Parts: sequence; C-alpha cells; structure tokens
Amino acid sequence: MFNKTIYQSRRKTLKESVKKGIILIPGNVDVPMNYPANTYHFRQDSNFLYFFGLDQQKLIGIMDIDNDKDYIFGDDVSLDGIIWMGPQPSISERSEKAGVKNTAPYNQAYDFIKKAISEKRTVHFLPQYRAENKLMLEKLLDIRVDELPKNVSTDLIRGVVELRSVKGPEEIAELEKVMETAYEMHTTAMKMAKPGIYEREISGAVEGIALAKGGMLSFPIILTVNGETLHNHYHGNILQDGQMLLVDTGTESELHYASDHTRTFPVSGKFTSKQKDIYNIVLRSQLRAIDAIKPGISFKSIHLLAMEEIASGLRDLELMKGDIKAAVEKGAHALFMPHGLGHMMGLDVHDMEDLGENFVGYDDEVKRADQFGTAFLRLGRKLKAGYVLTVEPGIYFIPALIDKWEKEGLHKEHINYDKVRKFIGFGGVRIEDDILVTENGCRVLGKPIPKTVEEIEEIMKK
Ligand code: GLY
Repeated sequence: MFNKTIYQSRRKTLKESVKKGIILIPGNVDVPMNYPANTYHFRQDSNFLYFFGLDQQKLIGIMDIDNDKDYIFGDDVSLDGIIWMGPQPSISERSEKAGVKNTAPYNQAYDFIKKAISEKRTVHFLPQYRAENKLMLEKLLDIRVDELPKNVSTDLIRGVVELRSVKGPEEIAELEKVMETAYEMHTTAMKMAKPGIYEREISGAVEGIALAKGGMLSFPIILTVNGETLHNHYHGNILQDGQMLLVDTGTESELHYASDHTRTFPVSGKFTSKQKDIYNIVLRSQLRAIDAIKPGISFKSIHLLAMEEIASGLRDLELMKGDIKAAVEKGAHALFMPHGLGHMMGLDVHDMEDLGENFVGYDDEVKRADQFGTAFLRLGRKLKAGYVLTVEPGIYFIPALIDKWEKEGLHKEHINYDKVRKFIGFGGVRIEDDILVTENGCRVLGKPIPKTVEEIEEIMKK
C-alpha cells in the first residue's frame, strides 16, 4: 500500500468535490468459477483500491461527507478462516494503514445506510459491474438491480474521474515498476517465436513471467497469427513461416497498476518487404502521434493525425487514393483501422471504464463522434499533465469488413479494392506503448521494447 496520507488526501478531495451526503464504495468479493468454494483469482475493485487501499475480500468503504468521517466495514477472520487461510490482521489493524479509524463488522454497513436513508441523506454510489455487488446494493439501498444504473451519482463519477485521471508521483513510480515486467514479457515472446511452436506455448510463458513477478495479467493475452481479429484470445495455432505474430499483453504491479503494450513481428525473425511496408506505416503513425502529445491538445485530434499518417502510407502503397484529409474526415481509413488510437490507463488497463467511457474520455468541449471507426475512440478530450494513456495504431485486413464495404461500394473514391484484396490473409499489425503526459509534452513509460524493424530483427536472432 501507499502511505496512509495518500488515501486520506484522496478521500478529502473527493468529499470536497461531492460536497454532501454519503459516499459508498463496496470492495469486491470472491466469485465462484465452477462451484462456490473454487473461486476466480481475487481482484479488488479499483475505486476501493484507490480510496481505501486494502486488497482484501468483502469490505465496504464509506465516506460520510456531512460528518467528515470515513469507515471500513468488514469481518475479522473466524477460527474456521484461520484454519483454512492462516492468521490475518484484524480489520482495524488493516484499516489503520489506509488512515481509517472507524471500523465495524460487515453487516453493520446495512444499519448505517438504512439510518442515512431514513434521515433523507443522499447515498452516492458508482456504476457496478459485478453481479454480487449489484445484489448487495439492491439489498443495502432497497433499489431494484435493474434500477441501479439510473440512480448512480454523476457527482461522484465526475469527482472520481477528475482525481484518478491525473496520476500522482507514487502512481507513476508504480507504473514504472510494472513496465520492467512488461519489457520481459514482450522480449520473451520475440525470442520464443519461430515456425512450429504453438501460440499457447508463448502465451503461457508470457503469463508465467507476470505471475512470477507478483502481478496478474491486466487483461487476457491477445497473442495470435491472426492479428486482424482485434481481440483474438485463441492460442491454438502453430506458428508458420511467412506469418506475423501480434502480441498485445500487459500485467499489473503488486498494487494493481497496469501495463499494456503491443508488438507485431515476423515468425521467421525477418520481415518480408510487404510486411515491412505495412509495419513502417503503423510505426510512423505511432511516432507521429506520440510526438504531438502535450497538455492542452485533444486526444481526438491526435487520433485523427495518426489516422492521416496511416491513410497517407496506404496511399503510397496504392491501397488508398485521393485527398487524405478528406478520406479521414469521411472515415475511409476505418476499413484498415476500425478502433481508437488509445485509452486511459492506471489501476485499470482501460482506466475507469466501469464508470462510463464518456465520463472518462469526453466532456462538454470534446464530444464523441458517431462515425464508424472514430466512434470507437475511448479517449477524446484535452490532455492534462499526469494523464497516462496508450497509443496503439494498427493496420488490419479483415476479410468480412472488406467484403461488406466493397459490396456496398463504400468510399470507393478513396479505396482501391482490387489492391486491398491482395492483402487478404496478411493479418494485422498493431504497435502500442504507454505514455505519460508531462508538463511540456510526454514520455514513453518504461525501458523501450524493441520497435523498429532493425531492433526486432536483432532481438529475434537471440
Ligand atoms: N490492449 C487491449 C485493449 O486495449 O483492449
């Protein structure tokens, strides 16, 4: 955990921003995998971690704004628990580490909230993503599960987003730590790739590195020779000469700060000229985007800049044609890049996505587009120093999408479908790094993972 003053200060700022009432932040509970006692690996709720820090099951955090008091409700370990799980510090000992003096058994949270409701005080709560906590809130607040989304507190959402978006020095240090593991995960994948090996042999080794370093994956590994499928979690193919392997993976630090990188490289260890052509367009797009990132600029404009670089490179290869700015404005590039340039990152790999993408990524000034491709951009708003985000352009040849657009004659003034067809079977290329926005610009977090054609070919020789 961080020093308790960090959690105290975060709670103080949040209470000042929400102003009145009670803030309710439930922690997560164990979730059964295939029978009640066999649970998934426990992952604490990120908002609970941010404000209360305790990485333990079945806790409820409450901030009473009106009386300026914070509480943690949870049960001390029973004798049965000690027998199966070993001795544990008491709830009050743990809570002290988060700077919370007021603790009580879990069920007393019900009495606390019922009393507050009977006094007509506002209970602020966030959108919930787990069934167990939705059911708990239904009981606690006497609001039907399907009515919970309508009753969430937008004041609380905005307050949390404001705070969590700007990373403090202690969070950046934690992110830097996790980047070391990320480097090892990706370079191991590069060194292992060769014809004849299963994708799952590499994904297993990569996941093993994360676990051995004390973290868990920040999302299920995307590791595939079919990189045109954006989130491909199938790892059963055998790598073949001539293919490219796309590896999009990240891990969490002990305090659950995420990493998220993508590299794409040839199975043979040597790029063909066709692979090099496509790869270098994606690389130029990524570098141009990173170069332009600074406080005050909107990430939507960075996305469009990166898309112009993609479209212009594809025009040089005669896959696209015509005026590039017009093509991007109309969304023609989205045939090759049907996703956003990046997203916020922190305690969640898509930071705070549970609170609603538009609250996190957009505001009154920058609105979400509704055009295929640009609409999928999770982060559009103006950047501030302290934001951490990914930059991850790609080029994909998705047969079903190419078929559909060609049949409909979509953007035929900008796309040479005959030439595009020749790339069916090529797969996809994505390059992704994690970026910290600084006072004057930005910096790529962590030790650089090989990225140029030369760097990748060099490390793959090893
Ligand atoms: N890197 C996986 C994702 O951003 O969804």
